Amino acid sequence: MAHRWTNDLSRADITPEHIYMNRRQIMAGLAGVGLAGIAGQAQASQGLTPNSWDDITNYNNFYEFGTGKEDPARYASALTTSPWTIKIDGMVDRPGEYALGDILSKMTIEERIYRFRCVEAWSMVIPWNGFELSDLLDMAGVQDSAKYVAFETLYRPDEMRGQKFSTIDWPYVEGLRLDEARHPLTIMATGLYGKDLPKQNGAPIRLVVPWKYGFKSIKSVVRITLTDRRPPTSWNKLIPREYGFYSNVNPKVDHPRWSQASERVVGGGLFSRRQDTLMFNGYESQVASLYKGMDLAKNF
Ligand code: MTE
Repeated sequence: MAHRWTNDLSRADITPEHIYMNRRQIMAGLAGVGLAGIAGQAQASQGLTPNSWDDITNYNNFYEFGTGKEDPARYASALTTSPWTIKIDGMVDRPGEYALGDILSKMTIEERIYRFRCVEAWSMVIPWNGFELSDLLDMAGVQDSAKYVAFETLYRPDEMRGQKFSTIDWPYVEGLRLDEARHPLTIMATGLYGKDLPKQNGAPIRLVVPWKYGFKSIKSVVRITLTDRRPPTSWNKLIPREYGFYSNVNPKVDHPRWSQASERVVGGGLFSRRQDTLMFNGYESQVASLYKGMDLAKNF
């Protein structure tokens, strides 16, 4: 497969693994303040000491396992990730249930070192392992009529106990415009830091779109549908005023309850610096053309 992308980040930029795995704990340590307070609470971090490995893998956002931050680590082991299939349907020439093993045997897994910008106003640099979504779409043969790609997470309440509650209208769903999905930066990730994805991080396969806020990156994907209608997305359905379809990292569009103009860089010396948030999370030269002529304050 031809490489259509080059990396501007090096291994030296990577956020240390234990800090990546630990960031929610770190952020929560700042808080008691809720999301809105985090950006303004940088000073509070100074007294934090590094957490243990147990802490590190005990703090995640994966509502299928519960809304508590420790729920995913506690309960995600119940998830069966093998065998795993992805149903690809809708406007494709070759719809069907694709076994993950078959998909992976045809893909080149490579490392992508990407900035990860959370809507909670912090950022990191993460080494993902994965392949371009576009290559998977080609396997199924996208028809000319398709304009959007819809994604769905597994619905299996027996294994995902959070799905017994109606926090979200299950299954968790996400969507991209077809040109966003086809962009060479958009990957399906199967690992991070050179290892398989931990279950609480979306095993065995998840979406990663580096110029969008982290919540767009849907975990444990079992279905991909090509459609000509803009698909619903879980966060937009839940709180439309706060989370739009596009969810591009955009310092000029505030979250209704806090600013998105800057971010705390998590890493090295914890909270060592704050930086201005870059348009499209620093990927402006690669992706700005996708949004030419659009009012990004309306299409947030
Ligand atoms: N995908 C599913 N299926 N369920 C979820 O609850 N949470 C989202 C996103 N993908 C979520 C999901 C949110 S809010 C975030 S911030 C990222 O996953 C976090 O991914 P990470 O924990 O691997 O960084």
